[in-house]
Amino acid sequence: MNIAILGYGYWGPNLARNFFNLNNNCKLKLIVDHNPQRLELARKQYPNIAVALNIDDAINSTDIDCIVIALPISLHYPIAKEALLKGKNVLVEKPMTQSVEQAEELIELAIKKNTVLMVDHTFLYTGSIRKIKELIDSDELGEIQYFDSVRINLGIFQYDSNVIWDLASHDISILEYLFNESPEKIQTIAISHTKNKIENMAYLSLFYKTNKFAHINVSWSSPVKVRRIIIGCSKKMILFDDIEPTEKIKVYDTGYSIKSIDDKSKVLIDYRTSDIFIPKIDNTEALKLMCEDFINAVNNNKKPISDYSLGLKVIKTLESAEKSIVKY
Ligand SMILES: NC(=O)c1ccc[n+]([C@@H]2O[C@H](COP(=O)([O-])OP(=O)(O)OC[C@H]3O[C@@H](n4cnc5c(N)ncnc54)[C@H](O)[C@@H]3O)[C@@H](O)[C@H]2O)c1
Repeated sequence: MNIAILGYGYWGPNLARNFFNLNNNCKLKLIVDHNPQRLELARKQYPNIAVALNIDDAINSTDIDCIVIALPISLHYPIAKEALLKGKNVLVEKPMTQSVEQAEELIELAIKKNTVLMVDHTFLYTGSIRKIKELIDSDELGEIQYFDSVRINLGIFQYDSNVIWDLASHDISILEYLFNESPEKIQTIAISHTKNKIENMAYLSLFYKTNKFAHINVSWSSPVKVRRIIIGCSKKMILFDDIEPTEKIKVYDTGYSIKSIDDKSKVLIDYRTSDIFIPKIDNTEALKLMCEDFINAVNNNKKPISDYSLGLKVIKTLESAEKSIVKY
């Protein structure tokens, strides 16, 4: 399997490093970027790998089997479509496309051409999220009640997507994976402080049929970097702090239950606080596992974790969130 990586900006080099180091029947063959300085860097880092300025060199090459798209979001759909039309397997960065219609068209094309289409929702492959999934599925935590995420920093203001598509796409993919359920209703408050009307701060509230609730705060305008998720469950609660170098997950044996309700609806609560448990998590690089999952899908027809169905659900939620933005 010969691989071409399109886009060698911030994320492309991480993909290149991982595909270069994989041994399982795949070979990084070509790196494409229209910025000569980025190509020069690629050439220095991988002297034996071909580089090109033009995306067509990868798409039209009969030598390339897999196209990895690490380009700006607005190029995901048109380039993935071209690659699929040529019968290539496609790994596209998150979020898959800029609309549900585009995502559905790509999926239809991948099915028709019998090729793999996968989205890089990297978080699903992190040791932390895999551990949280394991704890949730084991029923140790009880029923999920809420998910509360803060993902803020002084981020790069994108020109072709707002902060919801850029950052909340991570949380929405995590929610799909952990809840196994899509939200029924979404309300979003978002604001743009720039003159191009691209929102740089947003607060998303997601409501689920099963009475679960999620809140996501994303921002490119924070003086500090925060990556914190609290998941409240009926038996225990989880704090996931991705900035922590080692103890990223803490499981609090903390909870409450209703003791009694009197005739005036006055509720008496029983509180319970006990131990805090810090589970050991696997430190394998998430991107390595994601790249392996893609190659496994191509070589062995195995359904990847971050497959196109999950990618589409993320786009549906992103689109609904965007439509629900309260405009003043
Ligand atoms: N999975 C993750 O955790 C994660 C993290 C960061 C970024 N991303 C995604 O990766 C993608 C790229 O993001 P980035 O931060 O690396 O952006 P970037 O702007 O740093 O890199 C994009 C690169 O594409 C090149 N490029 C743009 N148009 C081109 C064209 N027409 N032909 C050839 N090259 C072209 C640019 O020169 C640049 O080097 C985005 O979709 C983003 O959402 C994913």
